[in-house]
Amino acid sequence: MFAAAEIGLDERVTRFVGERHRLLIGGQWVDAATGKTFPVYNPASGEVIAQVAEGDREDIDRAVKAARRAFESGPWPRLTPSDRGRLVWKLGDLILEHLEELAELESWDNGKPIRVARAADVPLAADLFHYMAGWATKIEGNTISISVPYAPEARFHAYTLREPVGVVGQIIPWNFPLLMAAWKLGPALATGCTVVLKPAEETPLSALRLGELIQEAGFPDGVVNIVTGFGETAGAALAAHPGIDKVAFTGSTEVGKLIVQAAANDLKKVSLELGGKSPNVVLHDADLDLAVAGTASAIFFNHGQCCCAGSRLFVEESIFDKLVGGVADEAKKIKVGPGLDPNTQMGPMVSETQYNRVCGYLEAGLSEGAKAVAGGGKLSGKGYFVEPTVLVDTKPDMKVIREEIFGPVVAAIPFKELDDDVIKAANDTIYGLAAGVWTRDISKAHAVAGKLKAGTVWINCYNIFDAALPFGGYKQSGWGREMGHDAIDLYTQKKAVCAAL
Ligand code: NAI
Ligand code: MG
Repeated sequence: MFAAAEIGLDERVTRFVGERHRLLIGGQWVDAATGKTFPVYNPASGEVIAQVAEGDREDIDRAVKAARRAFESGPWPRLTPSDRGRLVWKLGDLILEHLEELAELESWDNGKPIRVARAADVPLAADLFHYMAGWATKIEGNTISISVPYAPEARFHAYTLREPVGVVGQIIPWNFPLLMAAWKLGPALATGCTVVLKPAEETPLSALRLGELIQEAGFPDGVVNIVTGFGETAGAALAAHPGIDKVAFTGSTEVGKLIVQAAANDLKKVSLELGGKSPNVVLHDADLDLAVAGTASAIFFNHGQCCCAGSRLFVEESIFDKLVGGVADEAKKIKVGPGLDPNTQMGPMVSETQYNRVCGYLEAGLSEGAKAVAGGGKLSGKGYFVEPTVLVDTKPDMKVIREEIFGPVVAAIPFKELDDDVIKAANDTIYGLAAGVWTRDISKAHAVAGKLKAGTVWINCYNIFDAALPFGGYKQSGWGREMGHDAIDLYTQKKAVCAAL
């Protein structure tokens, strides 16, 4: 189906992928206790490219114990903040040194275009570690003057300390495998926590290569443990393990709720970055070319497999045909193909399951009366390819409007003029992760940004991420903010110390 113009893989990538993939526990690479493995697929062909150790409860338990030892004793808690920061910085450097290799690995395993992995996933992951490295030396408490009404004669010296939250279980998804590992590990390491990381079963390879780089950087044994395995087994065991102090999760809202239940037993701390159904609002006075390109990439970037994808496109009636026609033209121009083809702009869905899920939504939308002005179906042949799709004539209660599709499918919805009803419709979702607004009118832009119930609002741009910008959800899109200095709060807890003088 596709011209076989795939790049010749870096020899280090083929060698790494061909190796035996084990779990990183306490500084050692070990097989799963059961000896079991599971296959990793190339989503562009459906072929198996590797076998990876299938960690489960017993491996999680060993990893948690190793992380506990590394947190309580050994070199890690004794490192100065400066030395800790230097290690985190070095990991960022190593990622950049291995940029091409990591990009190829990510593209092969996840299916994303190699040019995107090179330009976004890998540099952003490195930048996250570099940014967080600086925080290691800037974690501070306060001194506080207190009055104590029942001890008016006494004098006190009171202050706060910010201490690492402890051993953290981190469960990450497959849409940005390396970058999600970085978002999770960066602040945990900068603050002095230790970690058990469970990568997604669809895309475990870049996290395992990152584990090797973590060792090369010189992190003490047990500070980062990596257990590959399935969500219902290894993931559930990690979320429920009494030996961890906090669980950080990115993935579906459905599993986010299971994580909260699992953590409720011993009230471990929880942070969650979950699903979205983000509104992208285009006003009549927007720069049309900019808005067409921007709203198309808001949904089609990473094949729509983004929690913040701009999947509900609200467009002022007077420009609806022009804007939506433009987005449909963009959709038709997108070169869909294997991620490792340098000309590819959109790769396959990550897995057969995700492919079937997205196709199911397309069928539901079309059978409920929506119309596709671009795409609308799957591509024939090998691999999990779906057409970039623009739907019109949707109704507010359709599945394609209410539920997260997590694929390259946008629904365009006209509105008469900017009023409270538009804002109400934009906010009419259980989610609140991100939103966009497109207009040349600066006051309207900020007024709309203020009214949208979302953790991030982009004005005349979309999908702009930076290690310094906090990211997270309102409503059922999550708890807590990742990146920026908020991420330091997420991995520390405050202790008040009060001394009588
Ligand atoms: P998922 O939420 O099941 O998987 C994400 C991670 O959670 C994976 O590492 C998985 O192994 C783990 N997991 C699954 N069940 C678990 C459990 N019971 N306990 C602990 N960990 C568990 O997401 P999935 O099935 O891959 O995708 C389903 C939908 O979720 C997507 O269609 C999309 O709508 C949404 N999603 C959202 C993401 C985001 O970035 N917010 C990322 C991935 C999926
Ligand atoms: Mg799942």
